[in-house]
Amino acid sequence: MIILSIETSCDDTGVAVLKKEKGKITTLSNVVSSQDDIHKKWGGVFPTEAKREHQKNLVPSLKKALSKASLLEKGSIKTASSLKEILFRESILLKDIQVFFKKNKIKKIDAIAVTVGPGLEPCLWAGVNFARALSCYLNIPIIPVNHIKAHILFFLLEKKEIDFPAVGLIVSGGHTELLLINSLSSYELIGKTRDDAAGECFDKIARVLGLGYPGGPEISKKAHLWETKTNKIKPFDINLPKPMMHSKNYDFSFSGLKTAALYDFLSREEKVQKNKNYINQMAYETQEAIVDVLVFKLKKAIKEYNAKTAILGGGVTANKKLREKVKKLDKEFPLIPFFLPPVSLSTDNANMIGIASFASKERLSFEDVKADANMKIYNDFKNIKE
Ligand code: KG4
Ligand code: ZN
Repeated sequence: MIILSIETSCDDTGVAVLKKEKGKITTLSNVVSSQDDIHKKWGGVFPTEAKREHQKNLVPSLKKALSKASLLEKGSIKTASSLKEILFRESILLKDIQVFFKKNKIKKIDAIAVTVGPGLEPCLWAGVNFARALSCYLNIPIIPVNHIKAHILFFLLEKKEIDFPAVGLIVSGGHTELLLINSLSSYELIGKTRDDAAGECFDKIARVLGLGYPGGPEISKKAHLWETKTNKIKPFDINLPKPMMHSKNYDFSFSGLKTAALYDFLSREEKVQKNKNYINQMAYETQEAIVDVLVFKLKKAIKEYNAKTAILGGGVTANKKLREKVKKLDKEFPLIPFFLPPVSLSTDNANMIGIASFASKERLSFEDVKADANMKIYNDFKNIKE
């Protein structure tokens, strides 16, 4: 079984090819085109611009992914009859895909997996319409994939089965959610952010400090510089809150942290605002506050729900400090396996979409596939405590 997978929910264009044989999943290729340089100037993702970039990147990424997986051969495929209708709003893609199939044939793919939600609506549609066009050309079904579920199911690459219930912590640029996972098809939300997501908080504070986009990796680098400085000479008096850390429920809130960082910055003289030590210490304090809240609530959920497994997913899991603190939990919970994606699979990619599609039985015809920007994976809201 060979799957071609596509991811365009935010600002990374991903195309991957995966194979499942005798129960084992292998990644044949995983191509990610990042748009970081484009979005740097805004300090965040601008959806219409991101969609245009996806349209430009999809066919070149497809070509790379197929050729790396040795699935591309010279030849041509006749234009699919409904192509113009499917790519009505994707003029760049329409042209590129027609040119591509005039010169290329694809050896063997059994299905196309695509992220249908949640995410930025215009971006999702670029990927979904691309998948629909390919499905129509190749006459193969589509497997719709939930992006959040894919951030969780990466573990299937190394382990086929886990013990339930599991607690899942999703930390990305758009989501911060704690989930109780009863089986691979049953998820309950136990807590979520009431405002900004953890990754969004990293990005926004990085912007205040004049660091690049995405902010998470930049903050992490500066925090490391601060931490490893042997002589933390004269630390600044910075007090950032750890919002909702001790609230009775499992919700999060990061907008107060962002505001506190902004006020601290604005209260400083210009020469301090530009001082490397100040910036590095602010990055360190920001990272500590975010990571401590995440780890504290994760531990609390594991205990209260008697979890047998813990799974973390989403771009923020690339954070070194978060990974270190999660790895140390082994001591406190020796019987519980903690799954963290490899750093290369933390941020958005199509590999995880392909992996998640192997856990799905859904097969749709291209006419029935739609993007759903607000798609959820949980059935009900279990957060009853206030
Ligand atoms: O999962 P992801 O690639 O996209 C969404 O689904 O949102 O996550 C992107 C987020 C960004 O906010 C980025 O700043 C954050 O993940 N991120 C990090 C690190 N690498 C990426 N945050 C903290 N530390 C990192 N090393
Ligand atoms: Zn994501």
